[in-house]
Amino acid sequence: MAATFDIVFRNGVVANHDGLGPRDIGVVNGRIAEIGALGAASAGEVVDCTGLTILPGVIDTQVHFREPGLTHKEDLETGSRAAVLGGVTAVFEMPNTNPLTTSEATLADKVARGRDRMHCDFAFWVGGTHANVADLPELERLPGAAGIKVFMGSSTGDLLVEDDSGIEAVLSQTRRRAAFHSEDEFRLRERKGLRVPGDPNSHHVWRDPVTAMLCTERLVRIARRVGARIHVLHVSTGEEIDFLKHHKDVASVEVTPHHLTLSSDDYARLGTRLQMNPPVREPHHRDRIWWGVSQGIADILGSDHAPHTLAEKAKPYPESPSGMPGVQTLVPVMLDHVANGRLSLARFVDMTSAGPQRLFGLANKGRIAVGYDADLTIVDLKRTATITDAQSGSRIGWTPYDGHAVTGWPIGTIVRGRKVMWEGDLVTPSTGAPCLFAEALPRNR
Ligand code: DOR
Repeated sequence: MAATFDIVFRNGVVANHDGLGPRDIGVVNGRIAEIGALGAASAGEVVDCTGLTILPGVIDTQVHFREPGLTHKEDLETGSRAAVLGGVTAVFEMPNTNPLTTSEATLADKVARGRDRMHCDFAFWVGGTHANVADLPELERLPGAAGIKVFMGSSTGDLLVEDDSGIEAVLSQTRRRAAFHSEDEFRLRERKGLRVPGDPNSHHVWRDPVTAMLCTERLVRIARRVGARIHVLHVSTGEEIDFLKHHKDVASVEVTPHHLTLSSDDYARLGTRLQMNPPVREPHHRDRIWWGVSQGIADILGSDHAPHTLAEKAKPYPESPSGMPGVQTLVPVMLDHVANGRLSLARFVDMTSAGPQRLFGLANKGRIAVGYDADLTIVDLKRTATITDAQSGSRIGWTPYDGHAVTGWPIGTIVRGRKVMWEGDLVTPSTGAPCLFAEALPRNR
């Protein structure tokens, strides 16, 4: 008797461990149950994917969704709406909310807010601070925790561990791979006078490449001393790429679509909308980060989706806040690089699903394989489209890519076998749930 599935994705070209090829995917209870030629199978629903490419669900491991406390910019519902409209099936959200996510109670609050309200699955980074360092071993293992995140240089919010002894204390406590915003706070303080009022192009002069490199060197030195794994978020300089290639045993590397796509040439056009920490820099940094992608030095792509309202961005620099949205545009912007030959589709998958699984030990996501969650990002690699502010699912309603024409577009977002987004529409009520991690599996599931 032919097998029966809840849903079958038929006639798509699937990117998985067998390479790129025509395969059907059958799903039972939200998990992938069979991959192959399933034309004879019966199914509750059949999704015709003719002409489409099916990728493992894209996991964005760095987003700021602002809830609780800053929900005039974004909340977990709107941020995850933007995510699934952009083909993202799971996000790891950052702790610089208000209150900060630095305790069991604040983490549990976020998990409760996200469950069945977020459109995609999720985990939350817990902020490491001087005050909670003794609690980190328990905090990093709590349900819904992605791990510990530390700001070494100040950015939006009050999280900061700027000193070597503080970093050493954090890394002595953590067992999971902790993530770092690596900009040297001491140099940032010394150089504050270099900010030119009204000129956002001075942002990357103030927060210069040495600021990033100094901090990353300190961080790697401490990680080696302590014997800890570290994840360096949003690497923005060629110097760090050339440094980190010698330290892949301890350090993983995140790069962002904006550092790969935009450059300091764009400040004149985008003004404070381009203002971001660490900054978007001169084109030669962008080129060296691409080299890091081509050589496998970069492990994963994160959007660092960091929404601020246009009214906030309209304040004159440097009163304007740093951060730009990105979760919805990660897939189309990077697929356009695929279409242009700068990135292979296999490398895109490596950096957006296999990479997050490898670095953070996702228990059942990151692959199109039997037994895994049926999280799928279904794309049309040939579709040409223009990104616009009007498409934004985010509360802030703007994107630095407004008017950017791309080839390659997300058509469907499938979370645990449910069609959440199809052709730009949200088609299923939200059923977001926490991601599971091999290093912190809850007992008696
Ligand atoms: O530009 C940034 N904005 N960088 C960060 O690290 C934080 C983010 C935010 O939360 O706005």
